[in-house]
Amino acid sequence: MKAEILENVNLKGDYYQIRFASAEVASDARPGQFVHVRIDERRDFMLRRPFSIKDAENGVVTLLYKVVGKGTAALSTMKKGEFCDLMGPQGTPFTPRSDYRALIIVGGYGAAATWQLTRSMPGGVVLLGARSADDLLLTKEYADAGFDVCIATNDGSVGKKGFVTELIPEVMAEKSEKPFFIYGCGPKPMLMALAALMRKENIPGELSLDEIMCCGVGSCFGCVVKVNDSESADKFRYARSCVEGPVFPAENIYIGD
Ligand SMILES: Cc1cc2nc3c(=O)[nH]c(=O)nc-3n(C[C@H](O)[C@H](O)[C@H](O)COP(=O)(O)OP(=O)(O)OC[C@H]3O[C@@H](n4cnc5c(N)ncnc54)[C@H](O)[C@@H]3O)c2cc1C
Ligand code: FES
Repeated sequence: MKAEILENVNLKGDYYQIRFASAEVASDARPGQFVHVRIDERRDFMLRRPFSIKDAENGVVTLLYKVVGKGTAALSTMKKGEFCDLMGPQGTPFTPRSDYRALIIVGGYGAAATWQLTRSMPGGVVLLGARSADDLLLTKEYADAGFDVCIATNDGSVGKKGFVTELIPEVMAEKSEKPFFIYGCGPKPMLMALAALMRKENIPGELSLDEIMCCGVGSCFGCVVKVNDSESADKFRYARSCVEGPVFPAENIYIGD
């Protein structure tokens, strides 16, 4: 459905935030779901692009995006009052769990996918990872929402130097009234490392897999990921991440033996 752009602003570097008027999408959106965006009908963008719904409130849908190619570059030039076509909300959501303490672990723009959890969860811990300070997003916002924020950057420009997953043992060592439930989103190598660690340490949680998508509705099989399947000889099957995901229980993600 057509949605008017209310605002499209540069946050820093290659990162932008865009807000659409879309009561239909906003009223149904749950944490971790995405919209499939047809950027601009006047230009050559037949394929939609998927973006996590960062926020959805009062008929307004907010996305946070990084310019990485042709589509996102075109999106960044669009102005207030212009229209995109939004399909969604699509995909499986994260499950807010009041019986656990939230441990959000995100890399780069993955911070947008988990943001809506802060609306329904009374604080927790957020581990934000990025290549460098320039790629860190929503640090202040998560802190203002009552979450303890820890940072890791690959180049050490802010927080601990290294991968965000290296912060986990320290958090796990803290005393907590409730056990942790991990919500993760970020680059695939990070998520696979996280899934392996969660399996080893027996930590429950859900991970959002950012797979390249085409149709976004389960028809093209362009977005498949491997999930565990004990009945298959290979012990896995292919799941379409646009309909069975993007959010998967971590224990379902196939990481080999
Ligand atoms: C469920 C889901 C949620 C997403 N949420 C966000 C978000 O909140 N913010 C955001 O900035 N981006 C998000 N993405 C990634 C976003 O869809 C891509 O960056 C975008 O489609 C690239 O379009 P483009 O035309 O600019 O790039 P293209 O010219 O198509 O590609 C440029 C580069 O980006 C890579 N790329 C293309 N699609 C993806 C993808 N799906 N994931 C990772 N890399 C990709 C290509 O491999 C290539 O290297 C999400 C993707 C998925 C599947
Ligand atoms: S994008 Fe076509 S099946 Fe998922």
